[in-house]
Parts: sequence; structure tokens; C-alpha cells
Amino acid sequence: MFTRTKKLDSTCHKQPRPTVLLSVANNIMPLSWHMPVSKSPLRYAICLRDENKSYDLLHINEQFALNFLDFSYLEAFEKSGSEHGGDKFKLTNLTPKKAQTINATLIEEAYMIYECKVIDILNYGDHDVFISEITLIHSKDVKDVKPTLFTGEGYYETTSLNPQRVLRVEDV
Ligand SMILES: Cc1cc2nc3c(=O)[nH]c(=O)nc-3n(C[C@H](O)[C@H](O)[C@H](O)COP(=O)(O)O)c2cc1C
Repeated sequence: MFTRTKKLDSTCHKQPRPTVLLSVANNIMPLSWHMPVSKSPLRYAICLRDENKSYDLLHINEQFALNFLDFSYLEAFEKSGSEHGGDKFKLTNLTPKKAQTINATLIEEAYMIYECKVIDILNYGDHDVFISEITLIHSKDVKDVKPTLFTGEGYYETTSLNPQRVLRVEDV
């Protein structure tokens, strides 16, 4: 039996979303609404609400980075998501890293980073959708990454990318 609603409310199942720390200029904030929109050319979309400082900064700078951090950095996600602006590197104890193709401060502790340049901005409601070109991907050679998944209302989850634990359909 289904219950029916037109809102993302408590009757809906959670959708664990891979969550990143978004860098715009020198500011960082957690972001769970993001997705690839084209493989070739490589295009990526992020959704930002206008109450966030990063929203204003991104409209001005039109460049950003997505820093993928391991599940062990949950505190940094929570701290950087509870304030608007300020020195978030000091707040989280994360290490600033220089970008190569954009003007934004990256995060040294990330296991992967996308550098992106905005090519279009759409709006269908309470978030702007920034469509971007991925200009560079940094990847660290780390084994068994534990990605950070956000399930909403302050809850997080992780999964395993260990090839011994990831199943193909013929293994089931
Ligand atoms: C796990 C998590 C995911 C979030 N995802 C988004 C998102 O996708 N888009 C958005 O606009 N805000 C999102 N937020 C809210 C912002 O991160 C939060 O308002 C932050 O304080 C904004 O920082 P700023 O004002 O310095 O840019 C999220 C918050 C958390 C904790």
C-alpha cells in the first residue's frame, strides 16, 4: 500500500545523497543537490539556495569546486553547514589547497576534487541550478574510500566502494 503526498515529507523514504563540500572563492559549505548532466562534454549541475553566502559568491565568481571527503569528516560537514560565511577553514580545521584552473580554495583532505566553471544558470523554484563545465578532476590513490551520504535532518550514512564488497548483477 502506498501513501501519497506532493511534498518531500516524513512519509517519503530517504534518499542517501553523496555529499560534498562546495568551494566558492574562499568559502566552503556542504552540498547534497548535485549531479552529472553530460559525459561528453563533461558537464555537472549543482543547486544552491539564495539564503547561502555561496549563492551570491557563485553569481559573481562563476567558478567553484566540489570536494569529496571521507565519512570521517562529518564534523566538518556539520560545522561548515551551520554558518553563513566567516573563516570556515579555521572553523573546520581543513587545509586550504590552491586550484589550477579556477579561482577558489580547494580542500587538501579531499579524496577527489572537481574544478568547475559555470556555463548556465536555471531557476525552477527555490534553488538556482548552476550548469558547469568540469575543467579538472583531482583524484587521490586511496583504497576503500567511505563516501559521505546525507539522508536529511542531520543524519549521514556511508557505503563501501571496496571491489570485494560491490556486487554485479550476476553475483546476486
Ligand atoms: C549535509 C548538508 C547538505 C546541504 N546541501 C545543500 C544544497 O545542496 N544546496 C543548498 O543550497 N544548501 C545546502 N545545504 C545548506 C548549506 O550548506 C548551509 O546553509 C551553509 O551554512 C551555507 O553556507 P554559506 O552561507 O557560507 O554559503 C546543506 C547543508 C547540509 C548540512
